[in-house]
Amino acid sequence: MAPASKDVFTVHHRVTEADRARANGHRGGILWFTGLSGAGKSTLAIELEKALFGRGYRVYTLDGDNVRQGLSADLGFSPEDRTENIRRIGEVAALFAEAGMIVITAFISPYRADRERIRARHPGYFSEIFINAPLEVCEARDKKGLYRRARAGEVKEFTGVSAPYEAPLAPEVEVRTDLSGVEACLAQLLQYVDRTLRLPAAEGAGLRGPQQAGG
Ligand SMILES: Nc1ncnc2c1ncn2[C@@H]1O[C@H](COP(=O)(O)OP(=O)(O)OP(=O)(O)O)[C@@H](O)[C@H]1O
Ligand SMILES: [Mg+2]
Repeated sequence: MAPASKDVFTVHHRVTEADRARANGHRGGILWFTGLSGAGKSTLAIELEKALFGRGYRVYTLDGDNVRQGLSADLGFSPEDRTENIRRIGEVAALFAEAGMIVITAFISPYRADRERIRARHPGYFSEIFINAPLEVCEARDKKGLYRRARAGEVKEFTGVSAPYEAPLAPEVEVRTDLSGVEACLAQLLQYVDRTLRLPAAEGAGLRGPQQAGG
């Protein structure tokens, strides 16, 4: 989206991205979780945040209701509003990443085009993480009772029931939460972060915890 006003200028920082990465021991990035309701996005986001923080990473999670209470309080669940919600979250996540942090986003984000738009705008930061479990499994979990209410027609435009979910075509990581437990999924995610965002100790401040192979 182009700025609405032409009188918009860019300010150039004198602390560079590389400066921030060296100080932190890792680069900034967006770990964009996507998947059906109940697939395990929030569960794994919170576990990953804790594990990364414990290793010295600067990390923050953006998750559903917190964002809809503030940043997107004016938006509903129509396709247009979902798209705008995801656009805003993408821009906020990119600001965190520019500040040097790892930001985990845990939103269904059902539309492929919305996710690809964020990737296209912030290609150096964006990683798509598919938190995948079949609809039947997510529906059987029904942690929030939303599937039952959606089937009863009490919740409109519910992803997987009465609104589409467009699965990633080439995600950087896919975890199958119906086949692997939380610990195994978490290990897969930690390995990806160590491999792609961590600086070799010689270049950065150095982080706690085991350096993964290839990291
Ligand atoms: N390997 C796994 N990873 C994550 N969650 C799992 C796994 N196995 C079972 N679960 C369970 O699945 C449920 C996932 O719920 P969670 O709230 O994390 O889903 P969500 O994707 O954030 O859904 P929503 O989009 O509605 O917020 C939890 O009850 C969790 O304990
Ligand atoms: Mg959630």
